[in-house]
Amino acid sequence: MSELNSKMYEVSAKSQDLGRYRDFDVYYKQGTTFRLYKANHMDFDESKVKQGKIPEKLFVSFNDKVSMIRKEQIDLNFRFKESITIDIYKSREILNDLISVTLSEPRSEILVEIKDTIEDIVEEFLLDEQIVSKLTNIAIHDYSTQLHVTNVMLFSLGYAHYCKFSENDIKMFAMMGLMHDVGKLHVPDYILSAPRKLTDEEFELIKKHPENGLEILVESGFEEKIQLAALEHHERLDGSGYPFKKKAADLSGTSRALGIIDMFEALTSWRPYKNSISPLKALALIKEDVDKGRLDSMIFKNFAYSIIGISEKEKEKAPTRRVVHRNESGVIL
Ligand SMILES: [Fe+2]
Repeated sequence: MSELNSKMYEVSAKSQDLGRYRDFDVYYKQGTTFRLYKANHMDFDESKVKQGKIPEKLFVSFNDKVSMIRKEQIDLNFRFKESITIDIYKSREILNDLISVTLSEPRSEILVEIKDTIEDIVEEFLLDEQIVSKLTNIAIHDYSTQLHVTNVMLFSLGYAHYCKFSENDIKMFAMMGLMHDVGKLHVPDYILSAPRKLTDEEFELIKKHPENGLEILVESGFEEKIQLAALEHHERLDGSGYPFKKKAADLSGTSRALGIIDMFEALTSWRPYKNSISPLKALALIKEDVDKGRLDSMIFKNFAYSIIGISEKEKEKAPTRRVVHRNESGVIL
């Protein structure tokens, strides 16, 4: 039994979730030993379920857990695709479930399944650009890494489309948004949503997420740009970021863009420790960091235009600020 013990995963024992385990062997724990509770293709004993006589903790093997998640992903993907053009609220809900399920076990077998979802979103987006704003406009007074990465994915998609990147690059940007914080899934929830100032130790733990994310993405075979963006999205052009205090010359365009998009999402969303601010206020705050030389000004401009929805034509009409040249003493030349 010892080999079995090391590969068992706890699953929900709530009565509404039991139907998901029909095709799998389900175990319970007796002392330190796992015993078969229900064989695959068998239903739970309904009278026991009604009387609440199911073991408090249920387990499945790792392989079964992966199969279970993949099955759910396929089902949710199908429902997402079906609802996206009919009921945007419903589709956002399904998208959140899909991403929660996917990130609940961030392993290569499971992460790759999300590629289909990205394809669906990008395809729908190319048909109707409003999809992204409709999906992100839904205010949710809740916080989780899953919600954050869903929003970052959608903003990244809008930005890449605005920049007229190729369809493949748009998909890459969306995937990068979705995967950038995958390393945070190792950080306990009570730290991520603490409604207080974090201790130094807690902050140090959070600061490890770019490197943890890199490890997961390398293992899962994601493309290098996505790996790099996850590693570098908290670095800043002036070397004030983390984890390596890299500077402008070492930072890729995708990492620079992700840093800005990530910050915008954090500012415009509610968190247990702060309220959200409006998109325009968020852009003004980010601009301060651009002016300090921490963030890329060109990328910021394009991102801001993608958020405000200014088209290329309108951009041409917009008054450009007069460039003022000063000498070393600050005198206008
Ligand atoms: Fe992050």
